[in-house]
Amino acid sequence: MEEKHPRRMARDMGAFGMTDRFGRAITYARLSLTEACNLRCRYCMPPGRASARPAMDDRQVEHLVQALAAMGVRKIRFTGGEPLVRPGVRPLLERVCRQPGIDWAITTNGTTLARDAEWLCRAGVTRVNISLDTLDAADYQALTGGNVQDARRGIEAALAAGFRQVRLNAVLVRGVSEGQIAVLADWTRDWPVDVRFIELMPMGTCQDWAKAHFLPARAVREALPELQETEQDAHAPAHYFRLPGAKGRVGLITPLSGHFCAACNRIRITFDGKLKPCLHSNEEIDLRPALDDPAALQELLRQGVQCKPERHHLCENQFIRRDMSQIGG
Ligand code: GTP
Ligand code: 5AD
Ligand code: SF4
Repeated sequence: MEEKHPRRMARDMGAFGMTDRFGRAITYARLSLTEACNLRCRYCMPPGRASARPAMDDRQVEHLVQALAAMGVRKIRFTGGEPLVRPGVRPLLERVCRQPGIDWAITTNGTTLARDAEWLCRAGVTRVNISLDTLDAADYQALTGGNVQDARRGIEAALAAGFRQVRLNAVLVRGVSEGQIAVLADWTRDWPVDVRFIELMPMGTCQDWAKAHFLPARAVREALPELQETEQDAHAPAHYFRLPGAKGRVGLITPLSGHFCAACNRIRITFDGKLKPCLHSNEEIDLRPALDDPAALQELLRQGVQCKPERHHLCENQFIRRDMSQIGG
């Protein structure tokens, strides 16, 4: 089906949809279920971070999903921290994913997917993005604190479970990624997966580490000169290429060297019930007073979307207060 331009969608959705001040229709929400994670990626969560603070409860998450669906949101991605470590995540998703009219997605580090992939797929989640920055066991351990075999087994389970779409996210890290670009891109040759390389974004308390380890997306073009332009997704943060004859695509996400704000169709809701109209802005609208009142929630969401900035200013050294784990990517 042909994807529509955000402005045309805004016009078609009339009074029911959420449209921002720049005519962008908001049809995609990223919903963080927890700030907790079973890994400690250096660019996402400061070492020794205290335990997670309380998240929205299940009923509040359900109210949000209902309000978002009623307001024209057509895709909801569950994020974290690591969404699959939220206590009771299985019954929660099995319930909320019954809401019709939504394309359900999740972003996960994949380490529990060997256990979780099948029920997620049965619950109705169709798109799974899995973080994997390196296949080198020692580098993976140093970067994330985890065991790369868990992530590998998770990816295999996701590929076997029958999701409509599986994507790998590899953050580009100087000193780690250089030798891994070709290795990770190789997954696209035999599997219909998109492997996306993401430029490291300086966020929160991890920002100095991120700045010191930045590796531009151009490193991918240099490592894989045979990449060819290929079909693109509407609104996607990634620009896609393909290795000759490969089943999947190689994507570049370049928030620093080239932003995609003009086509942005998304909002974020943090684990603690704040609407973030833009990933790279400190603006937050507190939804908590309305989380138990669906009508008030819709009104607050509509108002909050009006605060969405035209573009982000990360390149101009704006300091983002939250760590990525407190936003959900
Ligand atoms: P798809 O739905 O598969 O297109 O996934 P996605 O890119 O929306 O989600 P994912 O959780 O896999 O995020 C991949 C990377 O893109 C993460 O590093 C995100 O922080 C980054 N990203 C996602 N949305 C935005 C955005 O609105 N602005 C910026 N600057 N980066 C984003
Ligand atoms: N810069 C770029 N990407 C990041 N991610 C987490 N923190 C950062 C950062 N500082 C990625 C994760 C995950 C996705 C949601 O965001 O690896 O794949
Ligand atoms: Fe956890 Fe993902 Fe952050 Fe790594 S990037 S610490 S896996 S939330």
